[in-house]
Amino acid sequence: MMRPRVSLCVVDSADDAAAAAMQIVLRIEREAIAERGVFNIALAGGSTPRPLYSLLASAPSPRPRFERWQIFFGDERMVPSDHHDSNYRMARETLFDRVPIAPQQIHRVPTDAGSATLAAAAYAAELQRCFALAPGQLPRFDLVLLGMGADGHTASLFPGGSAVTEASTLPVVATWVEKLHADRVTLTAAAINAARTVLFIVTGTDKAFALRAVLTAESDGETQAPIPPARTVAPTDGELLFVADRAAAALRQ
Ligand code: 6PG
Repeated sequence: MMRPRVSLCVVDSADDAAAAAMQIVLRIEREAIAERGVFNIALAGGSTPRPLYSLLASAPSPRPRFERWQIFFGDERMVPSDHHDSNYRMARETLFDRVPIAPQQIHRVPTDAGSATLAAAAYAAELQRCFALAPGQLPRFDLVLLGMGADGHTASLFPGGSAVTEASTLPVVATWVEKLHADRVTLTAAAINAARTVLFIVTGTDKAFALRAVLTAESDGETQAPIPPARTVAPTDGELLFVADRAAAALRQ
């Protein structure tokens, strides 16, 4: 698999990473709106993006043009949208409740659909509607934000998980995560790799081994270890950016 040009920005702290990531988001937002009148972004879940979303909510002038945003999610836990584990709830608290974004601009994974499979199907239908996709066509996000787990997972693409082992051409799949004993809904690597830009935000010492494994220059044919799912992220026609703090980037060669 050819690897796209990778850009790595290393900053001192997690707060610096959020600030650096915000500048990237705003650059891509301006480009997308100038070229297409809309900014289609898929948000990352977990805890790392919280300071970024808070910064976006309080961004000084020139403010983000939230009225042009269409917001999606890279993945979601199969919990109610007001559950403390919900990625939607995290984004609502840090961003949506604090900026002028209309509900119809927010496309959450419908975790109240009855099952992960039904939620994935409904979310895929929403993507098809929003991106006016032909059958089998993948959405092309302007920006997909991703975090990374210490095990090299990203979105809900976990090592050994069905979303990775059954490499799918679908945009969205339901997946059982054995280590968490939980159902998830996630964009597939295929959908992520169709994006114009993918931005990983990785902070903390616990991510250093995973980040090194993902950034290691060795070709995929040389590694004996299983390829971390985050390494399957390689935009087919786009840019791949990493923002990391010094702790997460400590082992990079
Ligand atoms: C999720 C995310 C997941 C996350 C990583 C890192 O739903 O949890 O999509 O891929 O980005 O697990 O999580 P932290 O940012 O909390 O370390």
